[in-house]
Amino acid sequence: MPTPQSPKISFLNRVMDRTVVPGMLSFARPGYALRRLCWKPLEERLDGRRVVITGPTSGLGLATTHALADLGASLVLVGRDRGKLEKLAEEVAGEGASEAPTIEVAELSLMSEVRDLADRLLADPGPIHTLINNAGALFNERDVTSEGNERSLALNLLSPFLLTRLLLPRLVESATETDPGRIINVSSGGMYTTGISLSDLQNERGEYNGPGAYARAKRGQLILTERWARELADSHVVVHAMHPGWADTPGVRTSLPTFFKVTKSILRSPEEGADTIVWLAAAAEAAQSTGGFWLDRAPHLTEVLPKTHVSQTRREQLWEALEELTGLVGTSRD
Ligand SMILES: NC(=O)c1ccc[n+]([C@@H]2O[C@H](COP(=O)([O-])OP(=O)(O)OC[C@H]3O[C@@H](n4cnc5c(N)ncnc54)[C@H](OP(=O)(O)O)[C@@H]3O)[C@@H](O)[C@H]2O)c1
Repeated sequence: MPTPQSPKISFLNRVMDRTVVPGMLSFARPGYALRRLCWKPLEERLDGRRVVITGPTSGLGLATTHALADLGASLVLVGRDRGKLEKLAEEVAGEGASEAPTIEVAELSLMSEVRDLADRLLADPGPIHTLINNAGALFNERDVTSEGNERSLALNLLSPFLLTRLLLPRLVESATETDPGRIINVSSGGMYTTGISLSDLQNERGEYNGPGAYARAKRGQLILTERWARELADSHVVVHAMHPGWADTPGVRTSLPTFFKVTKSILRSPEEGADTIVWLAAAAEAAQSTGGFWLDRAPHLTEVLPKTHVSQTRREQLWEALEELTGLVGTSRD
């Protein structure tokens, strides 16, 4: 298989991504409904593939979990609530999954728990074919974890950074030319609004702006995706980010009540929002490129507004800051 390159963004998507109103409408259900007219049914199965997914107990993660189980994946469900995880694992097993899911409890905004989680996952000698970094949340009030990190930064950026770094060797080992490994980062269209603020990563300055902190963390996730894609180009692991558009999930209802009230009639269902996560995890086509930012099974632009460009120097600085904040300084990159 040739080395995967960045996916090619269509002319139409380039134009749409740059237009505010049609671009935004494409985040809603009409965008999904229109684009799915061109899709072929997913034919691939995932039997024998071990998939680690974070945040499987609600919203998009829940929809993804059911869809991947239907495709035969062997799932490792990572969440913070043992009761919810056990109930979900039972449901999935009862739906006839070829293998009952295993569960792992971790409060993902704490790096100590992310490390313990990775230790437990790596203690099992089995393969890890796919990692889906889905857990995430938008917080309207600033709060700091017991480790001293602002929680939006911790959950939405530090946690997927650390978990991915710790699991990378196993992902690389488990991947083959005919069966590539996949890392899927669930980002957000909100990241279009911002670059990255290196001087205030902990969101301490001025009045706390939850959507702003969230968008910067999601921009950071995309920057990591692009870097891993480059670094892993010679391995058999592809790395993609996606955004689900706007989907009606418990997360959206709780964090953005006004947005929810105004848009509820045009929001996607969780299954519609999760469709591209499932497609990236399963479709052969998705493993033929790497480093893309996807919506509705198609790659999209990553920068459309002025001042959201992040230079190579700032990307390096972000990487170093994340290594420092997660205690990875001085360890190898993959
Ligand atoms: N819905 C949308 O329109 C939308 C748009 C853009 C991006 N996204 C992204 O999509 C992903 C899923 O969001 P969603 O809308 O499905 O939200 P959701 O319904 O709130 O689900 C979030 C999931 O993450 C888990 N989680 C949250 N905080 C956690 C923590 N500290 N430790 C461990 N697990 C934690 C939740 O666990 P519990 O069940 O225990 O709460 C839940 O399983 C997020 O990354 C979000 O940023 C969503």
